[in-house]
Amino acid sequence: MLEQLAHLGRDPETGGYVRDAWSEADLELREWFAGEAGRRRLTLREDRNGNLWAWWGTPSPERPGVVTGSHLDSVRQGGAYDGPLGVVSAFAALDLLRERHVTPSVPLGVACFTDEEGARFGVPCVGSRLLTGVLPPERALALTDDDGDTLADVLKRAGRRPGGLGRDDETLAAVGTFVELHVEQGRGLVTEGRPVGVASAIWPHGRWRFDFRGRADHAGTTRLADRDDPMLPLARMVLAAREAAERRGVVATIGKVRVSPGNANAIPGLASAWLDARGADEDAVRALVAELSEGAQVREESWTPVVAFDTALRDRIARAAGGDTPAPILPTGAGHDAGILAAAGVPSAMLFVRNPTGVSHSPSEHAERADCEAGVVALADVLEELCR
Ligand code: GLV
Ligand code: MN
Ligand code: MN
Repeated sequence: MLEQLAHLGRDPETGGYVRDAWSEADLELREWFAGEAGRRRLTLREDRNGNLWAWWGTPSPERPGVVTGSHLDSVRQGGAYDGPLGVVSAFAALDLLRERHVTPSVPLGVACFTDEEGARFGVPCVGSRLLTGVLPPERALALTDDDGDTLADVLKRAGRRPGGLGRDDETLAAVGTFVELHVEQGRGLVTEGRPVGVASAIWPHGRWRFDFRGRADHAGTTRLADRDDPMLPLARMVLAAREAAERRGVVATIGKVRVSPGNANAIPGLASAWLDARGADEDAVRALVAELSEGAQVREESWTPVVAFDTALRDRIARAAGGDTPAPILPTGAGHDAGILAAAGVPSAMLFVRNPTGVSHSPSEHAERADCEAGVVALADVLEELCR
């Protein structure tokens, strides 16, 4: 299945993936999902927020299902595994259960959440945030991409109904338990010498946009003393973020800047930088952002508080996934739809598959085939246990 997806949204020059939400590539990935659901005679549903669900059995509020899955969109120039591994493994685990002649006592669902990475509109986990009501639909619809198109415009063009967006209790009530399998985005499992692990918690994390305003002018004729160059405070902020992150024991990243109008021979009029800050300690992350924000024009684009996964479920899953010895339990600094669902009260858990490079959000992200297969077996064992 990963091979079937290998060409979709791939940049042939870098080998990286560009799978923005609702792009051509994303629409093809969604088609692929629908095809896989159909081939397995699962009931396909797209909810009001664009999330896809493929059901084996029919869930109801009285009989909610066990759901597994992840997302198919990517960061720009991302790897092949972040997201797709969880969706592909979900279908593969379901196949394995059928091979084992398991008849689940509750409906089993495969989910594909929309716009997990937020690469296009800036806010991550848009599908699950809308579903659970933590992102107001009016705010989502007004988000703009780099071309100035709003999410509302983009949805209309994709033949969707922007007016349908918002908290969806009916869809949410069908999810009794959610398990997301994901490529590990660090080297915890390499250190443990194990192919599969289980998540303990997701660090609190957020994104902030800093706008520095200056005065556009000629690069040759404007004396240094006369300039109001917004690149200087931006550069100071980047260095200050690194220094403050080290001092406070958190991580801070400026991975996106926009300089306008963007002439090599002109002082810019506006420079914007996006800060991503995370850490085990929420207060330390907040303090870092407050420190950097002093005197700056800052807008919080997203914030996700710490998520500690349900410990009883986590331990049960670590036993089911681990074979003879329970799977190792690891925290993560990456955000996931499972975290959004957990925060909304859905018992949720995550399985990680070893990544030998430890690198993610980059074409170097990797998982060995044998480890992916171990992930599928572990996921099938977990689903079998949960559907008993
Ligand atoms: C999603 O992968 C994130 O952690 O930003
Ligand atoms: Mn990611
Ligand atoms: Mn992901």
